[in-house]
Amino acid sequence: MSAFYALLFTVAFLVLVIGLTKKIIQYSRVPAPLKIPVTPAPLSKGGVAVRLAKEAILFAALFRSNKWTWLFGWMFHMSLFIVLLNHLRFFIKDVPLPLVLLQNVGEYAAFTMFIGLAGLLIRRLFVARVKYISAPSDYLWLILLMVIALTGIVMRFVSHTDIVAVKEFSLGLLRLNWQALPTDFPLMVHLFLVAVLMILLPFSKLLHIPGLFFAPTRNQVDNPREERHIAPWAAELDAEKNKVQPK
Ligand code: HEM
Ligand code: HEM
Repeated sequence: MSAFYALLFTVAFLVLVIGLTKKIIQYSRVPAPLKIPVTPAPLSKGGVAVRLAKEAILFAALFRSNKWTWLFGWMFHMSLFIVLLNHLRFFIKDVPLPLVLLQNVGEYAAFTMFIGLAGLLIRRLFVARVKYISAPSDYLWLILLMVIALTGIVMRFVSHTDIVAVKEFSLGLLRLNWQALPTDFPLMVHLFLVAVLMILLPFSKLLHIPGLFFAPTRNQVDNPREERHIAPWAAELDAEKNKVQPK
């Protein structure tokens, strides 16, 4: 069983890293032929950085669009962030003090993560307009994340797993020196679903993580009068044309 999980996580890690890198390269090459920042938009590159940070940290556009979705969505994402920071303790030998101090907050984050996900699921099930455009995968992602959170909560509060052994296992994975893994049911489910998440991420809607930073409506400077906007590939074509038919 330990060998199966070690192999599964090695594959999942490779799929995640290679898949995500390929997608990011692809995104960076997609032409953006038009100047289309959603206005009011920043007038400088620094302003764009602030805008993107506000989107990534506060979900600013979602806040303007729908308060309930923002509330549950933001609650889920921020809690997930804290939970993931907390999980670093499984991958770092000597855990630094800030991470140790975060452990107590982490206990609550598991619950707010679950509540956020439940709110998003209820929205998909009961808001007719949202239900109409929901695909099976939209529900499945929410359910997958809820089961990961629930099995985590069970391990932390109900039936404890041997976290020292889990840490040995994770560190063993990083050092390519496979170690035994406890085989209690919640941990098996937790880790299996985490591996599924890692493998599917580069092929799914979870690509919104890098995607946000490549959205032309958000990452462009509002300067169409000061500078002529011309996509790199269009500039090449232009130069080519001028070569063939000199004026
Ligand atoms: C930079 C990091 C991230 C940002 C800025 C971000 C932002 C967002 C935003 C703005 C939404 C839209 C909500 C809506 O309009 O309906 C969303 C949805 C979602 N995100 Fe993220 N996200 C990030 C990372 C993640 C990660 C790491 C996961 C999971 C592992 C995740 C899972 C989801 C899911 C499942 C939804 C769909 C929720 C629904 O049913 O509407 N996100 N995200
Ligand atoms: C290889 C990766 C992972 C390992 C080895 C792992 C392992 C564990 C273990 C052993 C616990 C119980 C902690 C305790 O008893 O103190 C736990 C809790 C938890 N896990 Fe994970 N997990 C992983 C990834 C994830 C991911 C990706 C998520 C979220 C999408 C997640 C969400 C949670 C939550 C919400 C809890 C309960 C609260 C907490 O202890 O922080 N885990 N995990």
